[in-house]
Amino acid sequence: MMILKIGGSALTIKDANKPTIDEINLDRIAEEVSYYNDDMIIVHGAGSYGHIHAKKYAIGEKITNAQENLYKIEGLARTQASVQLLNYIVVEKLQEKGIPAVGIKPSSFIVTENQRITTCDTSTIERYIKEGFVPVIYGDAVLDKNDDIKFAIISGDQIITYFAKQLKANKVILSSDVDGIYTDNPRTNPEAKLVDIVTKDTKLTLTNNENQADVTGGMAGKVNELLSLAEEGIESLIINAEKEGNLKKAVSGQKVKGTLIK
Ligand code: IPE
Repeated sequence: MMILKIGGSALTIKDANKPTIDEINLDRIAEEVSYYNDDMIIVHGAGSYGHIHAKKYAIGEKITNAQENLYKIEGLARTQASVQLLNYIVVEKLQEKGIPAVGIKPSSFIVTENQRITTCDTSTIERYIKEGFVPVIYGDAVLDKNDDIKFAIISGDQIITYFAKQLKANKVILSSDVDGIYTDNPRTNPEAKLVDIVTKDTKLTLTNNENQADVTGGMAGKVNELLSLAEEGIESLIINAEKEGNLKKAVSGQKVKGTLIK
């Protein structure tokens, strides 16, 4: 079974000031993914459909008074609606390319505790896969068991690692708008080099917020999620979905430039 993450930065214009689809990328990405025809789950990020709201309403931060509580309730509702709309758009495009995609809303079955998934019944999703569907889930705004924060944002990366462990995935691909993991931030350091293989012993300089529009930890968040997966013996590959042909090659088992986390 394959779990594929499509980063919000590849599907949307992530630094736009309102939710904006990257139509050209979405069309091509869906087309390339359609070359895979075995069991799979697709997890997509939120891009400008999620991060703008999540940041504005500071979801996941401590609630200190009744007024803040009301504001966060509004924020949770708005964030959920916005990422659900993105999911609808992605699912529709995947179906257009012949993929039997079904969108499933993560916040309807996932609850976190201190922003980590603790409640998550995967059985419905497993049944869909068994019946030949391709479930499509996404980074979402969810309920949290910690009463100080009440709500949390879960990234597509956290969902990927949870499902990969639970469903014992044998292929995990993460695609976004960068080629893989670099020794330093390639946007600010021209000396930064792409690393082919990352293990827990690899020395990297990763910032949490190299992309200010990202509330879920940027590349550092991603690497930590994937190293925890590697610890359980599941390797994952990070590739650039914005480069034409990369996803098609990766889902077809061909070699692609990127970073293997093992
Ligand atoms: C974020 O998901 C979810 C919300 C902000 C609601 P991701 O962290 O997986 O999204 P991208 O891929 O970085 O856009």
